[in-house]
Amino acid sequence: MLELVPFRREDRESILEWRNSPSVATFMYRNTPIGPEEHRSWFEKAMVDHPDQIHRLLLIDGDPSGVMSLSHIDRSVGSAEWGGYLAPHVARGVGHGRAFIEACIDLARVDLRLQLVNVEVLESNTAARRLYESIGFEFVDRINQRVVRDDEAIPALRLRLVFDG
Ligand SMILES: CC(C)(COP(=O)(O)OP(=O)(O)OC[C@H]1O[C@@H](n2cnc3c(N)ncnc32)[C@H](O)[C@@H]1OP(=O)(O)O)[C@@H](O)C(=O)NCCC(=O)NCCS
Repeated sequence: MLELVPFRREDRESILEWRNSPSVATFMYRNTPIGPEEHRSWFEKAMVDHPDQIHRLLLIDGDPSGVMSLSHIDRSVGSAEWGGYLAPHVARGVGHGRAFIEACIDLARVDLRLQLVNVEVLESNTAARRLYESIGFEFVDRINQRVVRDDEAIPALRLRLVFDG
């Protein structure tokens, strides 16, 4: 069973470990390590829902398994930006990512009553791109120099899912 729950303090250190692991950090805009103090201050804010941003922990059969955020929530437009990842110990390629993102979309559509969700993804992140495309996200535009790594400009794509009805 898959659930999205508010952050619990006992998961703070695991979330830092996940976020700094190569299987997650590689696909984030910031891939350099996040320190404990910086994480603590981020986590305290992320435990609380804000008008423009919420965070949730993914539980798979009760096991902490991922993190998601909806940021830039704009109720006048009905939009938000999704971000998230599966924890490094969660098996890849067996459908967890799809179920996770579908649950996040339900949260945005049904609970928050939004009209659309945007996402930005590194162009090189094939798994995430294919997943978004298969769910129905559509290309908006390409950011040619979203991050620079080893003196190389890395492009990202903006994608959007507009909900029906
Ligand atoms: C992206 C991520 C959520 C995918 O999770 P997953 O559980 O491996 O994906 P699923 O098994 O649910 O696969 C769903 C779809 O994703 C695509 N996909 C998954 N792995 C893929 C791979 N290695 N290569 C190409 N496409 C892949 C496929 O379209 C797949 O559909 P299919 O099984 O019908 O072919 C997960 O890898 C992750 O958390 N990555 C690190 C963080 C990240 O990239 N976050 C997104 C930042 S924008």
